[in-house]
Amino acid sequence: MRLSVIGTGYLGATHAAAMAELGHEVVGVDADPRKVEALSRGEVPFYEPGLAELIASHTASGRLTFSEDIGAVADCDVHFVCVGTPQASASPAADLSQVDAAVEALAKSMRPDTVVVGKSTVPVGTAQRLRAELREATAGQARLVWNPEFLREGFAVEDTLRPDRIVVGVDDDRDAEVVADIYRTQISQGTPFLVTDYATAELVKVAANSFLATKISFINAMSEICDATGADVTTLAHAIGLDERIGRRFLRAGIGFGGGCLPKDIRAFMARADEMGVGESLAFLREVDRLNLQQRDTAVRMAAELLDGSLTGARIAILGVAFKPDSDDVRDSPALSIAAALHLKGAEVVVHDPRAGANAQRAYPTLNYVDSADEALRDADLTMLLTEWQEYRDLDPTRTAEQVARPAVFDGRNVLDAESWRRAGWTYRGVGVR
Ligand SMILES: NC(=O)c1ccc[n+]([C@@H]2O[C@H](COP(=O)([O-])OP(=O)(O)OC[C@H]3O[C@@H](n4cnc5c(N)ncnc54)[C@H](O)[C@@H]3O)[C@@H](O)[C@H]2O)c1
Repeated sequence: MRLSVIGTGYLGATHAAAMAELGHEVVGVDADPRKVEALSRGEVPFYEPGLAELIASHTASGRLTFSEDIGAVADCDVHFVCVGTPQASASPAADLSQVDAAVEALAKSMRPDTVVVGKSTVPVGTAQRLRAELREATAGQARLVWNPEFLREGFAVEDTLRPDRIVVGVDDDRDAEVVADIYRTQISQGTPFLVTDYATAELVKVAANSFLATKISFINAMSEICDATGADVTTLAHAIGLDERIGRRFLRAGIGFGGGCLPKDIRAFMARADEMGVGESLAFLREVDRLNLQQRDTAVRMAAELLDGSLTGARIAILGVAFKPDSDDVRDSPALSIAAALHLKGAEVVVHDPRAGANAQRAYPTLNYVDSADEALRDADLTMLLTEWQEYRDLDPTRTAEQVARPAVFDGRNVLDAESWRRAGWTYRGVGVR
């Protein structure tokens, strides 16, 4: 099929490349000319494992093209809307201006009898509103489907090519068949294909993110109790996770969640529930958000404790500022927010990240960014592992002890082997671990 993808950021670029891989002809449209230029050359303007290869291969074959011009959608049969829905500047609600602008522009440029598929994460009720707008703009011909996206940054290619489920919200079951055709390969490989109404499809996405956020804040709350009682949260998580009703995944205590999705999605969900008069039902999410942000304060407090109370003038090596490993995304990154807080409290913060340094520097230009972990570690009074990149997990505690001024480490992701670091002479602190 001939598909367009509007918005080629983390979600859209991956989706466009994956659709080309499935055999479709795809044009990606983005408002940012630098992104379009880079993608057209087969380059990815952000880091996502495996994506550069996929984009290069399909731009070379001609099956995947990019354009700044929305007119490029004119001969496409289906249009995916993948633009951003960030947190609004003046409220916790979602800012839908990109979605509104994209759908308005699409309606003017697409063939009127084609199908628009929304993939952006939107507040419940948005699809119903957009459907009415689209139909008005196309004399009742255009159709709308909502198909939320569940990809994880760092695994985006794999998750898009082999998703664990495909959910589509429709107001006419026949539209589901068009989407099923696009995802024929995955469906034939056994991926569950769930057809539902708009509201349920929109809610599946935010409910899933709310559940994951709750799981993380739950184990972080347990880590505080473990700290207070001398218990060990890693063993606790393992023991409760063996109960298959609970499950082990997403139960690792640490500095909390961040990124371009979880924090803004739970806030937008609460804001939408408030608007609908059912805010009380999501009151627990306020606590989930608060507990999550508290982990950042806890990390700053632990840093001060490891430095005998004084951050001023202390040289702190920050290992990792991406919101998660295998990504260069620093949107609402707990690691970067901790680094910035330490700097504001007078520490000399030296930051290394294998991929996210440039994005972090744009967001917080006043920190000291270096090109290698070795440089960050040199003469450090405190080492803080804040994003669990493999290269940090693999650090040799004996060699690392020789590089720093004082062998004190805060393991913000509970990934180092505390015993071997202590044996090498380190003062080790994790989150809720002994
Ligand atoms: N990043 C993820 O892991 C992920 C996962 C699942 C869902 N989502 C959802 O997907 C959506 C996109 O997220 P993202 O992380 O890719 O955001 P992003 O900011 O990386 O990408 C958005 C892109 O849309 C472009 N854009 C904005 N307005 C446009 C317009 N009118 N016409 C054409 N292009 C336009 C921007 O230039 C940008 O390149 C959000 O709703 C997000 O919640 C993201």
